[in-house]
Amino acid sequence: MVSYKEIGLVHTREMFAKAVAGGYAIPAFNFNNMEQLQAIIQAAAETKSPVILQVSKGARNYANQTLLRYMAEGAVEYAKELGWEHPQIVLHLDHGDSFETCKSCVDMGFSSVMIDASALPYEENIALTKKVVDYAHQFDVTVEAELGVLAGVEDEVSAAESHYTKPEEVIDFASRTGCDSLAISIGTSHGAYKFTPEQCTRDPKTGRLVPPPLAFDVLHEIEKKLPGFPIVLHGSSSVPQEYVDEINALGGKLPDAVGIPEEQLREASKSAVCKINIDSDSRLAMTAAIRRVFHDKPGEFDPRKYLGPARDEMKKLYKHKIVNVLGSDGKAE
Ligand code: G3H
Ligand code: 13P
Ligand code: ZN
Repeated sequence: MVSYKEIGLVHTREMFAKAVAGGYAIPAFNFNNMEQLQAIIQAAAETKSPVILQVSKGARNYANQTLLRYMAEGAVEYAKELGWEHPQIVLHLDHGDSFETCKSCVDMGFSSVMIDASALPYEENIALTKKVVDYAHQFDVTVEAELGVLAGVEDEVSAAESHYTKPEEVIDFASRTGCDSLAISIGTSHGAYKFTPEQCTRDPKTGRLVPPPLAFDVLHEIEKKLPGFPIVLHGSSSVPQEYVDEINALGGKLPDAVGIPEEQLREASKSAVCKINIDSDSRLAMTAAIRRVFHDKPGEFDPRKYLGPARDEMKKLYKHKIVNVLGSDGKAE
């Protein structure tokens, strides 16, 4: 049993309270490898932004949970080396799917876990979430839960259709589970294909797909029911079209990839939404940068020569999100 406090990580409670009161959101970036982690920490350190490092089931299968946890410990020291005196870094389990997985993360030093029982019937979601909360709170680890179902298909997260969170359920759910934050469904979804072309309109000038707006009415209803309660948005990549175009121009095939417009994420950040999950945008930044090197320098075979530019591109993306979209810069001086 290792406490996250011993390794310099923090949980989300105070961070979220400040974000809700201050009208900004904390970035939650997924990481699977060293370059992503370096880019996240460099971006957070340079902007003095609190940051949540997220580990998904896919990441644990790919890189190993123990290794990722020790990388996060290293990240705290790395942040200090970069001149960030008091780093505010959370190590969070993304989409935990069982009590055992959540427990193993709590026991090995994660400071926050998500139990995603949103696909279960309501009462079963409550029972499993409460079991995780009761365990995690003994160690001061914070717990994110989910109510409502997101559409979209990602390696480990799939739902054929979305069901918006029902505002009439949130008070009962939050009070009976004791969760610290709640992920809701208001029209976001995972991956780079958040909407089908049929769900979108087309901008007559650019020919680009324009996605349907998020259900801000549902968000506001939820805020009214649970004033000040921390709300989380998953599936919040904006799928920058510059990356999609570049990837496609350099031999990739991402037809009609579309995300959540940043303007809407900016608006959500000013509300009780205090954690915004971004993974796909980082994958796109990395892929575009690597394709660029392979196209421009076909003789290159040193991985550092393409993973280095990929790291720089991801860092640029993370800083942009922090400063121009979520507004969390300078909140962890
Ligand atoms: O919520 C989903 C994340 O983007 C993680 O996806 O399981 O492919 O790592 P992954
Ligand atoms: P994106 O696929 O939109 O980046 O969402 C990531 C996410 O919600 C991780 O939990
Ligand atoms: Zn998610």
